[in-house]
Amino acid sequence: ALVTTKEMFQKAYDGGYAIGAFNVNNMEIVQGITEAAKEENAPVILQVSAGARKYAKHAYLVKLVEAALIDTDLPIALHLDHGDDFEICKSCIDGGFTSVMIDGSKHSFEDNIALTKKVVEYAHAHGVVVEGELGKLAGIEDDVNVSAEDASYTRPDEVEEFVSRTGVDSLAIAIGTSHGAFKFKPGQKPQLRFDILEEVGKRLPNFPIVLHGASSVSQEYVKIIQQFGGKLDDAIGIPEEMLRQAARMAVCKINIDSDLRLAFTAGIREYLATNPSHFDPRQYLTPARNNIKAVVKHKLVNVLGCAGKA
Ligand code: G3H
Ligand code: 13P
Ligand code: ZN
Ligand code: NA
Repeated sequence: ALVTTKEMFQKAYDGGYAIGAFNVNNMEIVQGITEAAKEENAPVILQVSAGARKYAKHAYLVKLVEAALIDTDLPIALHLDHGDDFEICKSCIDGGFTSVMIDGSKHSFEDNIALTKKVVEYAHAHGVVVEGELGKLAGIEDDVNVSAEDASYTRPDEVEEFVSRTGVDSLAIAIGTSHGAFKFKPGQKPQLRFDILEEVGKRLPNFPIVLHGASSVSQEYVKIIQQFGGKLDDAIGIPEEMLRQAARMAVCKINIDSDLRLAFTAGIREYLATNPSHFDPRQYLTPARNNIKAVVKHKLVNVLGCAGKA
């Protein structure tokens, strides 16, 4: 059966590593991730955004993830990514998810607390855990476009009150990461506010922190996409060494979507460009799925440190 993130976060916190939270939208992505996790014996979080639910439909995604459970013996959590309101969280809790995020970060502190608390009460009554968020990420956070200038880092002096008044099980913070494949301007030196993460960690001892917008934007896949007709100038991600450092600290969940999209697209572009007469989707989705598996393996082993921890 699916598990919550409680035990995996406790072990990750104690062990100084992080669990990978990978966004899923279709069968090949679910398979690529879970095959990698199986071979590396890693716990894993599969997360579904509102957009993913709209694209694939709730029931298909739940059944795909349940199918992956038949194939593995791993602790797998099914998580709602960026729940916008109580209703979507309730729908996922009622519909078999083991974890939900209520993203109230665009609201005032008080409104964020009230909304998050309401979700926590419903979730906990149903055995589901909740991730909240304080601070705003730069870039595109679902449909809300937060410009880099408006991005506001998490204020460490707010985190204790937020956690104690809401009862959330984990907290996403903003320390300079952002969603998508264009995280820094060309020539800009990637930087994260580790001082904020450290201060948050001090104020919330033994409490799991979540890092969104944590793709590294592998230049290997960017180059393949460009080589085979794609346009992706100035795609830049978070350096892996920074993610390793975050994983050693209080960060227990690292969210990755863009890196999967790039790997998948690189596989398809390369295949179709090299085999122009082929039109069987299984043919071009096979390298795409293999790329997902390779990326996830690399993350589990070399970045997150969660290989062998299942
Ligand atoms: O946080 C954003 C995730 O990458 C999900 O993106 O809303 O386009 O599915 P999406
Ligand atoms: P990336 O766009 O960096 O992969 O971030 C994904 C994410 O935070 C999903 O919630
Ligand atoms: Zn996110
Ligand atoms: Na950690």
